[in-house]
Amino acid sequence: MDKIVSLCKRRGFLFQSSEIYGGVQGFWDYGPLGVELKRNLKDAWWQDMISSHNELLVPANAPTEFEMVGLDCTIIMHPQVWKCSGHYDLFHDHMVDCKESKKRYRFDQIRGRWCSRGEQRIFVTTMAEAEQEEDEVRRRGMKYFKLRAKNADELTIEKESLTFDQIQERELVLAPDAKSLDTLTEPREFNLMFKTTLGALGGEADVTFLRPETAQGIFVNFKNVVDTSRVKIPFGIGQVGKSFRNEITPRNFTFRSREFEQMEIEFFCHPDQSKQWYQYWRDRRLKWYTELGLSDEALIMREHHVEELAHYSVGTADIEYAFPFLPEGEYGELEGIAHRGDFDLRSHMEGKLDPNSPEGEPMQVELNEHGKPKYKGSGKDLSYRDPITNERFIPHVIEPSAGADRAALAFLCEAYTEDKVPDDKGELQERTVMKLHPRLAPVKAAIFPLVKKDGMPEIAKDIYSELKKHMNVFYDDKGAVGKRYRRQDEAGTPYCITVDTDTLNDKTVTIRDRDSLEQVRIKIDDLVSELGDRLS
Ligand code: GAP
Repeated sequence: MDKIVSLCKRRGFLFQSSEIYGGVQGFWDYGPLGVELKRNLKDAWWQDMISSHNELLVPANAPTEFEMVGLDCTIIMHPQVWKCSGHYDLFHDHMVDCKESKKRYRFDQIRGRWCSRGEQRIFVTTMAEAEQEEDEVRRRGMKYFKLRAKNADELTIEKESLTFDQIQERELVLAPDAKSLDTLTEPREFNLMFKTTLGALGGEADVTFLRPETAQGIFVNFKNVVDTSRVKIPFGIGQVGKSFRNEITPRNFTFRSREFEQMEIEFFCHPDQSKQWYQYWRDRRLKWYTELGLSDEALIMREHHVEELAHYSVGTADIEYAFPFLPEGEYGELEGIAHRGDFDLRSHMEGKLDPNSPEGEPMQVELNEHGKPKYKGSGKDLSYRDPITNERFIPHVIEPSAGADRAALAFLCEAYTEDKVPDDKGELQERTVMKLHPRLAPVKAAIFPLVKKDGMPEIAKDIYSELKKHMNVFYDDKGAVGKRYRRQDEAGTPYCITVDTDTLNDKTVTIRDRDSLEQVRIKIDDLVSELGDRLS
């Protein structure tokens, strides 16, 4: 991972935000190459999911034909949105502070094990040092339990879910220099939304939040979209945009950031068909990642256990990737595909309701003194009337929700390759190459004159100007051609075009393929169509 981080900095993919002032944790800036990569990624998502979707054709494995449209909503919304969505009350993590180091942790990050110290049994946390300590414990032939705090009262041990008391009865290990749970404060709740105020007065009534997800903008516009774009159920609304979460421990490069971008779809369907659509979107979204280059072996689809489900969810599966910063066998979430039932539309219509109650009872915690839901909904009718059957119902929602930054990070990790290639004399030299999918590559082709004389730079510049009208290309005439190839390999440029002596006679150039290193000659006039074919 360190090598990937250093390449990202060295080549201008990613920089720490406000770096000259020491940086701000959890905020990242995309450099000249990074911004192209992320833009290509978001464009690929938008094109594949929304703009090139053809509602007249039934896509492979889809239950029926369907429509897809887009939206671009604001980051700051009416404060009531977050009350009815559940974020105001429920969008929090548990955090603990270490009394010794003064560091702050998310409670579910704490790893540890029960140990005996003399007569005493203590829960030993190993925090970030968990992996090193695990090795140490194994080296000494001691038994090691991988514990993960699930909530304030419960831990998971290996894959079992146990209470603290049950864990204490297990076999214990001795770890003389580890920290005990005594050094941690009690877990406390911490809402992840960034607060801000509307207007100049800034009183409590003016408090609102930066959106922690793009999804709510889609739900509150459901009726607008149905009324104005004549879409019929089933249909999906997609949105790409910034979201903000005041994460307690942002870490692992951009994986857990405080400002990030999401690519979300809310897919509205008839309740009777929702399970089929849930299956469809799970499969389709997984395929999207493999088609753009993530390897099958590094990806898993993980179905959530019932107790893991979000308050609104009837079923959720995560697409997870084996990021190199994780211990072997562990995966990090790239995207969640959730079956949200009618929770969101109903909440924005009627106020917050208990999603677990079959009768749709108001949430117990949210009742006001009159026994009514504390947060009133919009009162607007967000139900849907089927134009053919006349049936009126509240649509169910399937939500494939992806993170653009996490996906960009996964593609960067997957692309990073070290191999050996022959130099001009045929001797093998080590190279670092970013094997990014051509659709994602920041620069599509680099154009080199072999030498800076005999009219070669002029021809190369003409080719550059012509190609630039169609794609992002780069001109380079500095240093030996081998070095120029290496620079482009690190940037992930799939093709390098060289103007050489033969070009002066026959108006052909060489195209070198980044991955196979194969070089073919092609007419300058055919370059646009040849590259167009290769890039798609
Ligand atoms: N609307 C549902 C929703 O927001 P989520 O699982 O909280 O669901 C969806 O977020 C995706 O957004 C995640 O799978 C992840 O890719 C991305 N994401 C969430 N929190 C993030 C963070 N702090 N930093 C970077 N990406 C994040």
